[in-house]
Amino acid sequence: MRKKVIAGNWKMNKVSSEANEFIDEVVEKAPTSDDVEAIVCAPFPFLASLAEKTKGTTVKIGAQNMHFEDSGAFTGEVSPGMLSDLGVTHVVIGHSERREHFAETDETVNKKTHAAFNHKLTPIVCVGETLEQREANETMNHVESQVKKAVEGLSDEQVTETIIAYEPIWAIGTGKTASSEEANEVCAHIRQVIKAITSEEIAEQVVIQYGGSVKPANIDELLAKSDIDGALVGGASVEAESYLQLVEAGT
Ligand code: G3H
Repeated sequence: MRKKVIAGNWKMNKVSSEANEFIDEVVEKAPTSDDVEAIVCAPFPFLASLAEKTKGTTVKIGAQNMHFEDSGAFTGEVSPGMLSDLGVTHVVIGHSERREHFAETDETVNKKTHAAFNHKLTPIVCVGETLEQREANETMNHVESQVKKAVEGLSDEQVTETIIAYEPIWAIGTGKTASSEEANEVCAHIRQVIKAITSEEIAEQVVIQYGGSVKPANIDELLAKSDIDGALVGGASVEAESYLQLVEAGT
């Protein structure tokens, strides 16, 4: 039985005082059930404080990006080792906003996925199609190719631990959610892709999230589906009350 993993992605929102207030409330009220894992993916400047405040609790802290190199002359970048040293446990890799605005490619996603494991971080790898690709019936092929490239060269154990977030780009921040059937169909396909690369046993363990306008009003229906094991949530994860409702839905 896979646990539900609810990851909030604040994107570029909040200032330090707001981040700290949020985490205090979430640490106090988050359910302690083993059935659900709560992750908060925050901007870099807040990670040290949030990791400190969640130490020894059930709430995990993730970054929204990182570089794939260990160190060096990469002005403005953050390394995987810097994150794990702070107590950060997860990192979002290949979010469509990074692919679109910051030249992230399948190749850099793969390098970052390897780098994450090298530093004991769990990657949350984002994949998903544009509206044009969906309308041209290219969704499955596109997502399959993204998944295969992201996990290329990983050991079976690492593939098992990778979290994959299926996020149709047309559903992100638009209020347009994929129907639970549409979302499940793609998540099930991703599981088949993982099975073909590894084994059925591994594929059955991999956590596959859906992301794209998830909110308290629609999360129950999504989580009820056979292959949706959680959610990567943007807008509805920014306020503690709504984020807590999403986590509660996973219990
Ligand atoms: O990382 C989260 C996704 O981009 C979804 O964002 O929930 O605001 O649509 P959203």
